[in-house]
Amino acid sequence: MEPATFVLFGATGDLAKRKIYPALFQLFVDQKLPSSFSLIGLGRRELSHETFQSNVEQSLITFSRSEVKDADVVKKFLRAFRYHVLDVDRKEDYTKLLRLVEEREEELNITPNRMFYLSVGPEFFETIATNIHESGLGSVDGWKRLVIEKPFGHDLESARQLNHTLNQAFDEPEIYRIDHYLGKPMVQRMGQLLHSALWEQADLRTRSITNIQISANETLGVEERAGYYDHAGAIRDMFQNHMLQLLMMLTIELPNRSSVDEVGKLKRKIMKSLMSLNKMDITQHVVRGQYGAGEIKGEQVVGYTDELGIAVDSQNDTFIAAKLRVDDPFWKDTPIYIRTGKRLKEKVTRIVIEYKSKGPLKDLLIVEIGPNEGIFFQRSQSDKERSDVEMPVRSQLSFMKESVKDAYETLIHDALLGDKTYFAHWDEVELSWEWVQPILYAYQDNLIPLHIYPAGSYGPHEADELLARDGFHWWFDFKNVSNNDSTKGDIHTYEYNT
Ligand code: BG6
Repeated sequence: MEPATFVLFGATGDLAKRKIYPALFQLFVDQKLPSSFSLIGLGRRELSHETFQSNVEQSLITFSRSEVKDADVVKKFLRAFRYHVLDVDRKEDYTKLLRLVEEREEELNITPNRMFYLSVGPEFFETIATNIHESGLGSVDGWKRLVIEKPFGHDLESARQLNHTLNQAFDEPEIYRIDHYLGKPMVQRMGQLLHSALWEQADLRTRSITNIQISANETLGVEERAGYYDHAGAIRDMFQNHMLQLLMMLTIELPNRSSVDEVGKLKRKIMKSLMSLNKMDITQHVVRGQYGAGEIKGEQVVGYTDELGIAVDSQNDTFIAAKLRVDDPFWKDTPIYIRTGKRLKEKVTRIVIEYKSKGPLKDLLIVEIGPNEGIFFQRSQSDKERSDVEMPVRSQLSFMKESVKDAYETLIHDALLGDKTYFAHWDEVELSWEWVQPILYAYQDNLIPLHIYPAGSYGPHEADELLARDGFHWWFDFKNVSNNDSTKGDIHTYEYNT
């Protein structure tokens, strides 16, 4: 791997402590960092290099996946770390930063390859990118890359504006937009595992799919993010990015496996084929919800509008369910239902592919993305009120054996390598906003009712009706039984070398 300087904006922030340092440390332990590597942490506070290094060490002790026990390894890792004080608006600070970066490059005798990682609020993206450009930090003989994390804009127009400004400083191939769902091991392996599954269960390759269900249910509420979340809602926080990325990653794999080179092209094609919703469709095909008070895992929790920092009359959405159609020959008869929400009964990210079957037993291919991982084939009763369901066959077709990597490890590694496969490309981001924008308008004009659902449920019952109208129901909503029942039945395990 080529030598590189990692310039980290927001080096004293939460994301850096929880995710970025532990990920870098893991890469170091696994010998996946460049052999010549330098990191310059930037923050507003004055800190000595030593204090910075010991703060990083503390975050490794608290958050690292590998046990931090060998003091020499940690010391060696921290040797690459320097700190520089920087006010994002002050141009002189960037000039001083340039000097420090160059000094380090000379000291280590490395090519000026620079990765600028913006672990800061999106309101600073444009200022920082512009200052990188104007200070000369971005004029390098080696490569330069910009890493940013969602939100990429607040709507279609602001996303375009943001992109336009970023493009003054960085070309599209140099911009790495993190969508951490694309870094999840199960999402990255989905294509390979699906095809192993279809190879094993050969008849599924030719059978019609009646519907697809993509759920990302969370038990957490708004937590300490009221300021951000109350202006974003589930639609911007999860749907426009993670959920549509899951849809793209799944639909490009069926009916045939896509090659890595084709991923971007196929994702774009799918997004272009998503049938847009007109005003009438929106009220029929989108369900908006907000959690009320309820019970999560035996504990009483308050409703959204009673959360700290949320206005008592907030109309913000904490749940969305939608029906989508893809206008292409393979998908045209298959509705895709997506839902995501906070304060739901269980934490689960899952895709269910339901096959056309005769009789009451339905064949399902289930992709568990988190917290469990694996692909299952299951033949299930189609009972709607699945109070006491038995699962006749449940075959674990493929499973992941390696210990679970954090998404940031994979993504930072890919960015250092210059591999953009699992990053969100601008055209995907733009097409996603284009699809979502009519819903944002409909929310704004109150064309879609806001349904209050009790915390600890599966969302408003209107989300069930969305499927019931087409003769389907959400699989695995265990309304009357404990979640453990989902593994009842015979389990046949086939292992694959993944
Ligand atoms: C983030 C959202 O992008 O994803 C959070 O901002 C959400 O609101 C989180 O909780 C969910 O991620 P995961 O990996 O826990 O499913």
